Amino acid sequence: MTHYKSIVVLTGAGISAESGIQTFRASDGLWEEHRIDEVATPEGFKKNPALVQQFYNARRDALLHERIAANPAHMALAQLEREWLTRPGHQFLLITQNIDDLHERAGSEKLIHMHGELLKMRCELSQQVFTIHHDIGGDDICACCGEKGRLRPHIVWFGEMPLKLEQIYRALANCDLFLSVGTSGNVYPAAGFAQEAKQADAYTVEINLEPTKQNDLFDKHFYGKAGETLPAFVDSLLSR
Ligand code: OAD
Repeated sequence: MTHYKSIVVLTGAGISAESGIQTFRASDGLWEEHRIDEVATPEGFKKNPALVQQFYNARRDALLHERIAANPAHMALAQLEREWLTRPGHQFLLITQNIDDLHERAGSEKLIHMHGELLKMRCELSQQVFTIHHDIGGDDICACCGEKGRLRPHIVWFGEMPLKLEQIYRALANCDLFLSVGTSGNVYPAAGFAQEAKQADAYTVEINLEPTKQNDLFDKHFYGKAGETLPAFVDSLLSR
């Protein structure tokens, strides 16, 4: 039986679906209700900042609703990290495309939010990042520059560079197990990570409700809800 040492996990909206967070590309997903170019591009923000702030204010409100909590899939990844890192020479990195904080709520720490975070804002002048739990409007004054209208969601929009790519590619080049959970594989560069892992000779595993565009890049698939399939997969890894 293979003994892995270095695990990289990529998660997408599907892992938070069972927590009640809307995914993007489902028939009832966010991109059916909103136009990407209007709410998720720098051009959209320039054209109509109020609309974009409104979109992310609504996402933030939904995330902070008392019924939203981490689910067994988030918990399983936090447990995997905790236990994996007690083993000498073992490494773990969780990369999420999600902007929610459910991995943190479950206890994950070795975590990169490559598409930014909903509970953070950024000053467009200084690039300073602030934690926020309330709505942002055009009249809000930035704490660092004292100006109105300088705060933008700390989200990576289409056409912008995802965060911490250097660290991500370094981890992919060194991993021997790559696990992809709940992502449709539509958005690059994240959609290219399985290929990178394969080039590093990693074993690749996909967990999703259904086959994705990335199907051929994975050595093993588990179809079903992440909240059910991921805890079982983590148990099998930790029992090795
Ligand atoms: P998508 O909405 O494109 O895909 C979600 C995937 O999760 C689909 O393949 C579903 O089949 C799967 N899924 C749904 N429920 C699941 C469950 N309970 N268990 C397992 N899988 C499930 O979301 P992402 O792939 O994350 O970027 O989207 C990638 C990026 O596109 C997002 O980060 C966002 C979006 O535009 C930006 O906004 C920059």
